[in-house]
Amino acid sequence: MALQWWQRAVFYQIYPRSFADSNGDGIGDLDGVTVHLDYLSALGIDAIWLNPINPSPLDDWGYDVSDYCGIHPDLGDLNAFDRLTAEAHRRGIRVIVDLVPNHTSNQHPWFVESRASRDNPKRDWYIWVPGSPDRAPNNWQSTFGGPAWKYDPTTASWYLHMFLEQQPDLNYRNPEVVEQMHQVIRFWLERGADGFRIDVIAGLIKDAELRDNPIRAATDPDIPWHAKGTQDPLYSHDRPEVHDIIRGFRRVSDSYEQRILVGETWPREHERLADFLRPDELQLAFNFRFLLARYDARRFRGAIELTEKSFGPAAWPTWTLSNHDFPRHISRYSRDGDGEARARVAAVMLLTLRGTPFIYYGEEIGMRDAEIPAESKRDPVGRDGCRSPMQWSDAPNGGFSTSAKTWLPCGDFKAINVERQLNDPHSTLSLYRRLIQLRKSTPALVEGSYRQFDNAPEDCLVFHRDTPTQHIVVALNFTAKPRAIDLPAGKILLSTVSRSTDSTSSTLTLAPNEAVILMIDV
Ligand code: GLC
Repeated sequence: MALQWWQRAVFYQIYPRSFADSNGDGIGDLDGVTVHLDYLSALGIDAIWLNPINPSPLDDWGYDVSDYCGIHPDLGDLNAFDRLTAEAHRRGIRVIVDLVPNHTSNQHPWFVESRASRDNPKRDWYIWVPGSPDRAPNNWQSTFGGPAWKYDPTTASWYLHMFLEQQPDLNYRNPEVVEQMHQVIRFWLERGADGFRIDVIAGLIKDAELRDNPIRAATDPDIPWHAKGTQDPLYSHDRPEVHDIIRGFRRVSDSYEQRILVGETWPREHERLADFLRPDELQLAFNFRFLLARYDARRFRGAIELTEKSFGPAAWPTWTLSNHDFPRHISRYSRDGDGEARARVAAVMLLTLRGTPFIYYGEEIGMRDAEIPAESKRDPVGRDGCRSPMQWSDAPNGGFSTSAKTWLPCGDFKAINVERQLNDPHSTLSLYRRLIQLRKSTPALVEGSYRQFDNAPEDCLVFHRDTPTQHIVVALNFTAKPRAIDLPAGKILLSTVSRSTDSTSSTLTLAPNEAVILMIDV
Protein backbone atom coordinates (compact mmCIF):
# COMPACT_ATOMS: atom_id res chain seq x y z
CA MET A 1 0.00 0.00 0.00
CA ALA A 2 1.35 3.42 -0.91
CA LEU A 3 2.33 5.40 2.15
CA GLN A 4 0.71 8.73 2.98
CA TRP A 5 2.75 11.92 3.25
CA TRP A 6 2.69 11.83 7.06
CA GLN A 7 4.13 8.31 7.04
CA ARG A 8 7.09 9.45 4.94
CA ALA A 9 7.59 12.80 6.64
CA VAL A 10 10.19 13.91 9.15
CA PHE A 11 8.47 16.28 11.60
CA TYR A 12 10.11 19.09 13.56
CA GLN A 13 8.54 20.59 16.68
CA ILE A 14 8.96 24.33 17.13
CA TYR A 15 8.36 26.13 20.40
CA PRO A 16 7.54 29.48 18.75
CA ARG A 17 8.60 31.68 21.69
CA SER A 18 12.05 30.18 21.54
CA PHE A 19 12.88 29.64 17.89
CA ALA A 20 13.73 33.07 16.48
CA ASP A 21 12.80 36.63 17.43
CA SER A 22 12.19 38.77 14.32
CA ASN A 23 11.26 42.05 16.05
CA GLY A 24 13.82 42.31 18.83
CA ASP A 25 11.46 42.04 21.81
CA GLY A 26 13.23 39.01 23.27
CA ILE A 27 10.42 36.62 22.34
CA GLY A 28 10.43 34.29 19.34
CA ASP A 29 7.61 34.81 16.83
CA LEU A 30 6.00 33.46 13.68
CA ASP A 31 8.01 35.69 11.33
CA GLY A 32 11.11 34.32 13.04
CA VAL A 33 10.05 30.82 12.05
CA THR A 34 9.46 31.98 8.47
CA VAL A 35 12.97 33.41 8.29
CA HIS A 36 14.45 30.01 9.12
CA LEU A 37 12.41 27.84 6.76
CA ASP A 38 15.40 27.41 4.43
CA TYR A 39 17.38 26.01 7.34
CA LEU A 40 14.62 23.45 7.96
CA SER A 41 14.38 22.67 4.29
CA ALA A 42 18.13 22.01 4.06
CA LEU A 43 17.86 19.75 7.09
CA GLY A 44 15.24 17.72 5.21
CA ILE A 45 12.21 18.58 7.34
CA ASP A 46 8.83 17.86 5.76
CA ALA A 47 6.47 19.20 8.40
CA ILE A 48 6.55 21.44 11.44
CA TRP A 49 4.40 21.37 14.57
CA LEU A 50 4.00 24.71 16.28
CA ASN A 51 3.33 24.73 20.03
CA PRO A 52 0.26 26.87 20.88
CA ILE A 53 0.11 30.20 19.09
CA ASN A 54 -3.27 31.41 20.32
CA PRO A 55 -3.96 34.35 22.63
CA SER A 56 -3.46 33.25 26.21
CA PRO A 57 -2.70 34.76 29.61
CA LEU A 58 0.28 32.33 29.61
CA ASP A 59 -0.42 30.66 32.93
CA ASP A 60 0.58 27.45 31.13
CA TRP A 61 2.49 29.12 28.29
CA GLY A 62 -0.24 28.94 25.69
CA TYR A 63 -1.91 25.73 26.85
CA ASP A 64 -4.45 28.03 28.47
CA VAL A 65 -6.20 29.43 25.41
CA SER A 66 -8.34 32.56 25.67
CA ASP A 67 -9.22 32.77 21.93
CA TYR A 68 -8.98 29.71 19.71
CA CYS A 69 -9.09 31.65 16.45
CA GLY A 70 -6.45 34.29 17.03
CA ILE A 71 -2.68 34.61 17.39
CA HIS A 72 -0.96 35.68 20.59
CA PRO A 73 0.29 39.25 19.98
CA ASP A 74 3.78 38.27 21.20
CA LEU A 75 3.98 35.87 18.26
CA GLY A 76 2.45 38.01 15.51
CA ASP A 77 -0.98 38.01 13.93
CA LEU A 78 -3.04 36.03 11.44
CA ASN A 79 -1.16 37.65 8.55
CA ALA A 80 2.10 36.36 10.00
CA PHE A 81 0.53 32.91 10.23
CA ASP A 82 -0.56 33.14 6.58
CA ARG A 83 2.95 34.22 5.55
CA LEU A 84 4.46 31.33 7.45
CA THR A 85 2.16 28.70 5.94
CA ALA A 86 2.51 30.12 2.42
CA GLU A 87 6.31 30.17 2.64
CA ALA A 88 6.41 26.72 4.23
CA HIS A 89 4.12 25.27 1.58
CA ARG A 90 6.22 26.84 -1.17
CA ARG A 91 9.11 24.74 0.16
CA GLY A 92 7.01 21.60 0.48
CA ILE A 93 6.87 21.90 4.29
CA ARG A 94 3.50 21.27 5.97
CA VAL A 95 2.42 23.09 9.10
CA ILE A 96 0.47 21.57 11.94
CA VAL A 97 -0.75 23.61 14.89
CA ASP A 98 -1.46 22.72 18.50
CA LEU A 99 -5.13 22.29 19.37
CA VAL A 100 -5.88 22.47 23.09
CA PRO A 101 -9.47 21.22 23.34
CA ASN A 102 -9.53 19.74 26.85
CA HIS A 103 -9.57 23.05 28.70
CA THR A 104 -9.57 26.78 28.13
CA SER A 105 -8.05 29.60 30.10
CA ASN A 106 -10.21 30.81 32.97
CA GLN A 107 -10.07 34.14 31.12
CA HIS A 108 -11.70 32.72 28.00
CA PRO A 109 -15.05 34.52 27.49
CA TRP A 110 -16.83 31.13 27.59
CA PHE A 111 -15.61 30.50 31.11
CA VAL A 112 -16.21 34.07 32.22
CA GLU A 113 -19.84 33.55 31.18
CA SER A 114 -20.04 30.03 32.54
CA ARG A 115 -18.96 31.02 36.01
CA ALA A 116 -21.27 34.08 36.14
CA SER A 117 -24.41 32.27 37.22
CA ARG A 118 -25.86 28.79 37.52
CA ASP A 119 -28.34 29.49 34.75
CA ASN A 120 -25.94 31.08 32.29
CA PRO A 121 -26.34 29.53 28.80
CA LYS A 122 -22.65 28.55 28.90
CA ARG A 123 -22.89 27.06 32.40
CA ASP A 124 -22.83 23.53 31.09
CA TRP A 125 -19.83 24.15 28.82
CA TYR A 126 -17.61 23.36 31.81
CA ILE A 127 -17.86 20.76 34.56
CA TRP A 128 -19.56 22.32 37.58
CA VAL A 129 -20.75 20.61 40.74
CA PRO A 130 -22.69 22.61 43.33
CA GLY A 131 -21.54 22.00 46.88
CA SER A 132 -19.97 23.34 49.99
CA PRO A 133 -16.39 24.58 50.16
CA ASP A 134 -15.25 21.90 52.61
CA ARG A 135 -15.85 18.90 50.37
CA ALA A 136 -14.63 18.47 46.75
CA PRO A 137 -16.93 16.44 44.49
CA ASN A 138 -14.51 13.51 44.26
CA ASN A 139 -10.88 12.51 44.79
CA TRP A 140 -9.49 13.45 41.36
CA GLN A 141 -6.02 14.94 41.31
CA SER A 142 -4.69 17.56 38.91
CA THR A 143 -1.84 16.39 36.66
CA PHE A 144 0.19 19.24 38.13
CA GLY A 145 -0.53 18.17 41.73
CA GLY A 146 -3.24 18.90 44.25
CA PRO A 147 -7.00 18.51 43.88
CA ALA A 148 -8.53 18.83 40.39
CA TRP A 149 -11.43 20.90 41.77
CA LYS A 150 -11.63 24.58 42.55
CA TYR A 151 -14.45 26.05 44.62
CA ASP A 152 -16.01 29.17 43.15
CA PRO A 153 -17.99 31.18 45.72
CA THR A 154 -19.81 33.19 43.01
CA THR A 155 -22.19 30.29 42.47
CA ALA A 156 -21.22 28.09 45.43
CA SER A 157 -19.95 25.39 43.07
CA TRP A 158 -16.79 23.50 42.20
CA TYR A 159 -15.29 23.37 38.71
CA LEU A 160 -12.97 20.73 37.35
CA HIS A 161 -9.42 21.51 36.23
CA MET A 162 -7.23 18.54 35.38
CA PHE A 163 -4.25 20.94 35.05
CA LEU A 164 -3.84 24.41 36.64
CA GLU A 165 -6.83 26.03 38.30
CA GLN A 166 -6.58 28.64 35.53
CA GLN A 167 -7.36 25.82 33.05
CA PRO A 168 -11.00 24.75 33.57
CA ASP A 169 -11.96 21.56 31.71
CA LEU A 170 -14.57 21.82 28.97
CA ASN A 171 -17.57 19.52 29.11
CA TYR A 172 -17.57 17.22 26.07
CA ARG A 173 -20.88 15.72 27.13
CA ASN A 174 -22.37 18.98 25.87
CA PRO A 175 -22.88 18.84 22.07
CA GLU A 176 -22.46 22.62 21.84
CA VAL A 177 -18.87 22.29 23.04
CA VAL A 178 -18.20 19.54 20.52
CA GLU A 179 -19.68 21.65 17.71
CA GLN A 180 -17.69 24.69 18.83
CA MET A 181 -14.43 22.72 18.71
CA HIS A 182 -15.34 21.47 15.22
CA GLN A 183 -15.63 25.13 14.20
CA VAL A 184 -12.17 25.80 15.58
CA ILE A 185 -10.77 22.86 13.61
CA ARG A 186 -12.43 24.17 10.44
CA PHE A 187 -11.08 27.66 11.07
CA TRP A 188 -7.43 26.52 11.00
CA LEU A 189 -7.89 24.02 8.18
CA GLU A 190 -9.57 26.70 6.04
CA ARG A 191 -6.62 28.94 6.81
CA GLY A 192 -4.19 26.38 5.42
CA ALA A 193 -3.02 24.40 8.45
CA ASP A 194 -2.21 20.82 7.51
CA GLY A 195 -3.53 19.39 10.73
CA PHE A 196 -3.22 19.42 14.48
CA ARG A 197 -1.24 18.08 17.35
CA ILE A 198 -4.07 17.59 19.83
CA ASP A 199 -3.34 18.22 23.49
CA VAL A 200 -4.50 15.76 26.19
CA ILE A 201 -6.61 13.96 23.60
CA ALA A 202 -7.36 10.87 25.70
CA GLY A 203 -8.71 12.99 28.54
CA LEU A 204 -11.42 14.91 26.71
CA ILE A 205 -14.38 13.19 28.30
CA LYS A 206 -14.85 12.20 31.92
CA ASP A 207 -16.97 9.64 33.72
CA ALA A 208 -20.61 10.75 33.65
CA GLU A 209 -20.98 9.96 37.36
CA LEU A 210 -17.61 11.50 38.33
CA ARG A 211 -16.67 8.40 40.33
CA ASP A 212 -13.57 8.38 42.54
CA ASN A 213 -10.36 7.18 40.89
CA PRO A 214 -8.71 4.06 42.35
CA ILE A 215 -5.20 4.07 43.78
CA ARG A 216 -2.35 2.27 42.00
CA ALA A 217 -1.25 -0.97 43.60
CA ALA A 218 2.15 -1.05 41.88
CA THR A 219 4.74 1.29 40.43
CA ASP A 220 5.21 1.39 36.66
CA PRO A 221 8.99 1.22 36.13
CA ASP A 222 8.79 3.13 32.85
CA ILE A 223 6.72 6.05 34.14
CA PRO A 224 8.18 6.81 37.55
CA TRP A 225 5.43 9.17 38.66
CA HIS A 226 2.92 6.35 38.18
CA ALA A 227 4.04 5.14 41.58
CA LYS A 228 2.29 2.77 43.95
CA GLY A 229 -0.14 4.78 46.03
CA THR A 230 -0.76 7.48 43.38
CA GLN A 231 -4.03 7.82 41.58
CA ASP A 232 -4.89 5.74 38.53
CA PRO A 233 -7.08 8.07 36.43
CA LEU A 234 -9.60 5.35 35.57
CA TYR A 235 -12.61 7.70 35.63
CA SER A 236 -11.00 10.97 34.58
CA HIS A 237 -8.92 9.91 31.57
CA ASP A 238 -9.10 7.52 28.61
CA ARG A 239 -12.82 6.84 28.92
CA PRO A 240 -14.39 4.68 26.19
CA GLU A 241 -16.55 7.58 24.96
CA VAL A 242 -13.48 9.61 23.99
CA HIS A 243 -13.29 7.65 20.75
CA ASP A 244 -16.61 9.13 19.59
CA ILE A 245 -15.23 12.62 20.16
CA ILE A 246 -12.09 11.79 18.20
CA ARG A 247 -14.14 10.30 15.37
CA GLY A 248 -16.05 13.57 15.20
CA PHE A 249 -12.80 15.56 14.92
CA ARG A 250 -11.61 13.19 12.21
CA ARG A 251 -14.78 13.61 10.17
CA VAL A 252 -14.20 17.35 10.12
CA SER A 253 -10.52 16.96 9.29
CA ASP A 254 -11.30 14.46 6.51
CA SER A 255 -13.63 16.94 4.86
CA TYR A 256 -10.39 18.68 3.80
CA GLU A 257 -7.68 17.00 1.75
CA GLN A 258 -4.54 15.47 3.21
CA ARG A 259 -4.90 16.80 6.75
CA ILE A 260 -3.81 14.95 9.87
CA LEU A 261 -4.52 14.58 13.55
CA VAL A 262 -1.63 13.74 15.88
CA GLY A 263 -2.58 12.95 19.45
CA GLU A 264 -0.80 13.67 22.68
CA THR A 265 -1.82 10.27 23.95
CA TRP A 266 -1.37 8.93 27.45
CA PRO A 267 -3.48 5.79 27.31
CA ARG A 268 -4.05 4.21 30.72
CA GLU A 269 -2.45 1.04 29.40
CA HIS A 270 0.28 1.50 26.88
CA GLU A 271 -0.71 -1.65 24.97
CA ARG A 272 -3.83 0.25 24.03
CA LEU A 273 -2.16 3.19 22.30
CA ALA A 274 -3.20 1.69 18.96
CA ASP A 275 -6.88 2.04 19.93
CA PHE A 276 -6.50 5.72 19.05
CA LEU A 277 -5.00 4.96 15.65
CA ARG A 278 -7.95 3.79 13.64
CA PRO A 279 -8.90 4.66 10.06
CA ASP A 280 -11.57 6.95 11.54
CA GLU A 281 -9.58 8.30 14.52
CA LEU A 282 -6.04 9.71 14.77
CA GLN A 283 -3.41 9.20 12.09
CA LEU A 284 -0.52 9.52 14.55
CA ALA A 285 -0.09 9.36 18.33
CA PHE A 286 2.91 10.13 20.50
CA ASN A 287 4.63 7.21 22.17
CA PHE A 288 5.70 8.35 25.63
CA ARG A 289 7.14 5.02 26.78
CA PHE A 290 9.75 5.47 24.09
CA LEU A 291 10.34 9.15 24.87
CA LEU A 292 10.78 8.47 28.57
CA ALA A 293 12.95 5.36 28.24
CA ARG A 294 16.28 5.45 30.02
CA TYR A 295 19.36 5.14 27.81
CA ASP A 296 19.34 1.37 27.87
CA ALA A 297 18.87 -0.98 24.91
CA ARG A 298 16.48 -3.15 26.91
CA ARG A 299 14.17 -0.22 27.65
CA PHE A 300 14.03 0.94 24.06
CA ARG A 301 13.63 -2.61 22.78
CA GLY A 302 10.73 -3.09 25.18
CA ALA A 303 8.99 0.08 23.99
CA ILE A 304 9.58 -0.76 20.31
CA GLU A 305 8.50 -4.39 20.60
CA LEU A 306 5.38 -3.41 22.49
CA THR A 307 4.55 -0.97 19.71
CA GLU A 308 5.29 -3.39 16.90
CA LYS A 309 3.21 -6.12 18.55
CA SER A 310 0.24 -4.06 19.66
CA PHE A 311 -0.09 -1.84 16.60
CA GLY A 312 -0.92 -4.32 13.85
CA PRO A 313 -1.00 -3.28 10.19
CA ALA A 314 -3.55 -0.46 10.53
CA ALA A 315 -1.69 1.72 13.03
CA TRP A 316 1.49 3.62 12.19
CA PRO A 317 4.08 4.42 14.90
CA THR A 318 5.72 7.73 15.77
CA TRP A 319 9.06 8.14 17.55
CA THR A 320 10.12 11.12 19.64
CA LEU A 321 13.02 11.62 22.03
CA SER A 322 12.26 15.07 23.43
CA ASN A 323 9.52 17.67 23.66
CA HIS A 324 8.58 20.80 25.58
CA ASP A 325 7.43 18.90 28.69
CA PHE A 326 10.51 16.91 29.70
CA PRO A 327 14.23 17.51 30.05
CA ARG A 328 15.91 17.14 26.65
CA HIS A 329 17.15 13.60 26.02
CA ILE A 330 20.78 14.69 25.70
CA SER A 331 20.54 16.19 29.20
CA ARG A 332 18.84 13.09 30.57
CA TYR A 333 21.40 10.78 28.95
CA SER A 334 24.27 12.91 30.30
CA ARG A 335 23.37 12.11 33.90
CA ASP A 336 25.19 8.79 33.82
CA GLY A 337 27.27 8.76 30.66
CA ASP A 338 28.50 10.52 27.53
CA GLY A 339 25.35 12.43 26.59
CA GLU A 340 26.58 13.58 23.20
CA ALA A 341 27.67 10.15 21.96
CA ARG A 342 24.47 8.65 23.32
CA ALA A 343 22.28 11.29 21.69
CA ARG A 344 23.95 10.46 18.35
CA VAL A 345 23.08 6.79 18.80
CA ALA A 346 19.52 7.77 19.68
CA ALA A 347 19.31 9.96 16.55
CA VAL A 348 20.12 6.96 14.38
CA MET A 349 17.43 4.95 16.16
CA LEU A 350 14.89 7.78 15.82
CA LEU A 351 15.42 8.12 12.10
CA THR A 352 15.61 4.44 11.16
CA LEU A 353 12.75 2.86 13.08
CA ARG A 354 9.55 2.01 11.21
CA GLY A 355 7.36 5.05 11.75
CA THR A 356 7.30 8.83 11.71
CA PRO A 357 10.07 10.66 13.59
CA PHE A 358 9.51 13.95 15.43
CA ILE A 359 12.58 16.09 16.13
CA TYR A 360 12.41 18.72 18.89
CA TYR A 361 13.98 22.04 17.86
CA GLY A 362 17.67 22.19 18.76
CA GLU A 363 18.00 18.45 19.17
CA GLU A 364 19.70 18.38 15.76
CA ILE A 365 22.62 20.37 17.21
CA GLY A 366 22.70 18.54 20.52
CA MET A 367 21.22 21.46 22.44
CA ARG A 368 21.01 20.82 26.16
CA ASP A 369 18.60 22.10 28.77
CA ALA A 370 19.55 25.62 29.82
CA GLU A 371 20.27 26.46 33.45
CA ILE A 372 17.42 28.62 34.67
CA PRO A 373 18.23 30.76 37.72
CA ALA A 374 15.39 31.11 40.20
CA GLU A 375 14.58 34.69 39.18
CA SER A 376 14.17 33.70 35.51
CA LYS A 377 11.82 30.77 36.03
CA ARG A 378 8.59 31.06 34.02
CA ASP A 379 6.84 27.72 34.05
CA PRO A 380 4.82 26.90 37.18
CA VAL A 381 5.90 23.25 36.99
CA GLY A 382 9.57 23.67 36.11
CA ARG A 383 9.79 22.85 32.39
CA ASP A 384 11.75 25.96 31.32
CA GLY A 385 15.09 24.22 30.80
CA CYS A 386 14.03 22.44 27.61
CA ARG A 387 12.31 25.58 26.24
CA SER A 388 15.32 27.88 26.04
CA PRO A 389 16.10 29.93 22.89
CA MET A 390 17.38 28.17 19.79
CA GLN A 391 21.14 28.50 19.46
CA TRP A 392 21.85 29.78 15.97
CA SER A 393 25.35 31.20 16.39
CA ASP A 394 27.82 32.52 18.96
CA ALA A 395 26.46 36.08 18.57
CA PRO A 396 24.73 37.66 21.61
CA ASN A 397 21.71 35.56 22.68
CA GLY A 398 22.97 32.86 20.35
CA GLY A 399 21.62 34.84 17.39
CA PHE A 400 18.09 34.22 18.66
CA SER A 401 17.29 37.85 19.43
CA THR A 402 18.83 41.31 19.35
CA SER A 403 17.05 42.26 22.55
CA ALA A 404 19.04 42.97 25.71
CA LYS A 405 17.08 40.27 27.51
CA THR A 406 15.42 37.13 26.18
CA TRP A 407 12.16 35.75 27.63
CA LEU A 408 14.05 32.73 28.97
CA PRO A 409 17.82 32.59 29.49
CA CYS A 410 19.89 31.10 26.67
CA GLY A 411 21.88 27.90 27.00
CA ASP A 412 25.54 27.38 26.14
CA PHE A 413 25.43 28.86 22.64
CA LYS A 414 29.16 29.57 22.48
CA ALA A 415 29.85 25.85 22.45
CA ILE A 416 26.73 24.56 20.72
CA ASN A 417 25.23 26.44 17.80
CA VAL A 418 24.02 25.95 14.25
CA GLU A 419 26.63 28.14 12.58
CA ARG A 420 29.50 26.26 14.12
CA GLN A 421 28.09 22.88 13.10
CA LEU A 422 26.90 23.68 9.59
CA ASN A 423 30.18 23.00 7.81
CA ASP A 424 31.64 20.49 10.22
CA PRO A 425 31.10 17.01 8.75
CA HIS A 426 31.42 15.42 12.20
CA SER A 427 28.89 17.64 13.93
CA THR A 428 25.57 16.42 15.26
CA LEU A 429 23.84 18.70 12.76
CA SER A 430 25.68 16.99 9.91
CA LEU A 431 24.69 13.63 11.36
CA TYR A 432 21.00 14.60 11.37
CA ARG A 433 21.26 15.89 7.80
CA ARG A 434 22.94 12.73 6.58
CA LEU A 435 20.45 10.55 8.41
CA ILE A 436 17.48 12.35 6.94
CA GLN A 437 18.99 12.25 3.44
CA LEU A 438 19.75 8.56 3.80
CA ARG A 439 16.23 7.91 4.98
CA LYS A 440 14.85 9.66 1.94
CA SER A 441 17.05 7.80 -0.50
CA THR A 442 16.67 4.34 1.08
CA PRO A 443 13.16 2.91 0.65
CA ALA A 444 13.75 0.16 3.26
CA LEU A 445 14.17 2.82 5.95
CA VAL A 446 10.75 4.26 5.25
CA GLU A 447 8.63 1.47 3.81
CA GLY A 448 10.56 -1.56 4.99
CA SER A 449 9.35 -4.05 7.57
CA TYR A 450 10.84 -4.04 11.06
CA ARG A 451 12.30 -7.17 12.59
CA GLN A 452 14.49 -7.51 15.63
CA PHE A 453 17.86 -9.16 15.10
CA ASP A 454 17.97 -12.07 17.48
CA ASN A 455 21.67 -12.71 17.93
CA ALA A 456 22.74 -9.37 19.37
CA PRO A 457 24.13 -8.77 22.85
CA GLU A 458 21.31 -7.78 25.20
CA ASP A 459 22.74 -4.30 25.76
CA CYS A 460 22.70 -3.49 22.04
CA LEU A 461 19.69 -2.83 19.85
CA VAL A 462 19.94 -4.37 16.41
CA PHE A 463 17.14 -4.56 13.88
CA HIS A 464 16.41 -5.23 10.22
CA ARG A 465 14.52 -3.00 7.83
CA ASP A 466 13.60 -4.92 4.70
CA THR A 467 11.83 -4.49 1.40
CA PRO A 468 11.83 -7.23 -1.25
CA THR A 469 14.91 -5.63 -2.82
CA GLN A 470 16.73 -4.01 0.10
CA HIS A 471 18.06 -5.35 3.36
CA ILE A 472 19.23 -2.85 5.94
CA VAL A 473 20.54 -3.65 9.40
CA VAL A 474 20.75 -0.96 12.06
CA ALA A 475 23.11 -1.78 14.93
CA LEU A 476 23.22 0.40 18.04
CA ASN A 477 25.68 -0.09 20.86
CA PHE A 478 24.18 1.41 24.02
CA THR A 479 27.22 0.61 26.14
CA ALA A 480 30.50 2.40 26.80
CA LYS A 481 32.41 -0.73 25.69
CA PRO A 482 33.03 -2.25 22.25
CA ARG A 483 30.56 -4.93 21.18
CA ALA A 484 30.91 -7.58 18.47
CA ILE A 485 27.90 -8.72 16.46
CA ASP A 486 27.76 -11.57 13.97
CA LEU A 487 26.12 -10.23 10.85
CA PRO A 488 26.14 -11.03 7.15
CA ALA A 489 28.72 -9.02 5.21
CA GLY A 490 27.64 -5.61 4.01
CA LYS A 491 28.45 -2.00 3.39
CA ILE A 492 28.34 0.65 6.06
CA LEU A 493 26.10 3.50 4.90
CA LEU A 494 26.54 5.57 8.04
CA SER A 495 28.27 5.44 11.39
CA THR A 496 28.22 7.88 14.30
CA VAL A 497 32.02 7.57 14.67
CA SER A 498 34.90 7.68 12.17
CA ARG A 499 35.69 4.30 10.60
CA SER A 500 38.60 3.25 8.44
CA THR A 501 36.56 1.13 6.02
CA ASP A 502 32.97 1.02 4.91
CA SER A 503 32.69 -2.70 4.20
CA THR A 504 32.22 -5.36 6.86
CA SER A 505 32.87 -9.09 6.94
CA SER A 506 30.95 -11.51 9.13
CA THR A 507 31.60 -9.77 12.44
CA LEU A 508 30.84 -6.15 13.04
CA THR A 509 32.63 -4.64 16.00
CA LEU A 510 30.88 -1.56 17.28
CA ALA A 511 32.85 1.10 19.13
CA PRO A 512 31.46 2.32 22.50
CA ASN A 513 28.20 4.18 21.88
CA GLU A 514 28.43 3.64 18.16
CA ALA A 515 25.49 3.33 15.80
CA VAL A 516 25.84 1.89 12.32
CA ILE A 517 23.51 1.57 9.35
CA LEU A 518 24.48 -1.34 7.16
CA MET A 519 23.32 -2.35 3.69
CA ILE A 520 23.44 -6.12 3.49
CA ASP A 521 24.12 -7.69 0.08
CA VAL A 522 20.94 -9.30 -1.24
C1 GLC B 1 0.07 18.85 27.57
C2 GLC B 1 1.12 19.84 27.12
C3 GLC B 1 1.66 20.53 28.31
C4 GLC B 1 0.54 21.26 29.00
C5 GLC B 1 -0.60 20.30 29.34
C6 GLC B 1 -1.85 21.05 29.72
O1 GLC B 1 0.59 17.85 28.35
O2 GLC B 1 2.09 19.18 26.36
O3 GLC B 1 2.69 21.42 27.98
O4 GLC B 1 1.01 21.85 30.18
O5 GLC B 1 -0.95 19.52 28.23
O6 GLC B 1 -2.41 21.66 28.59
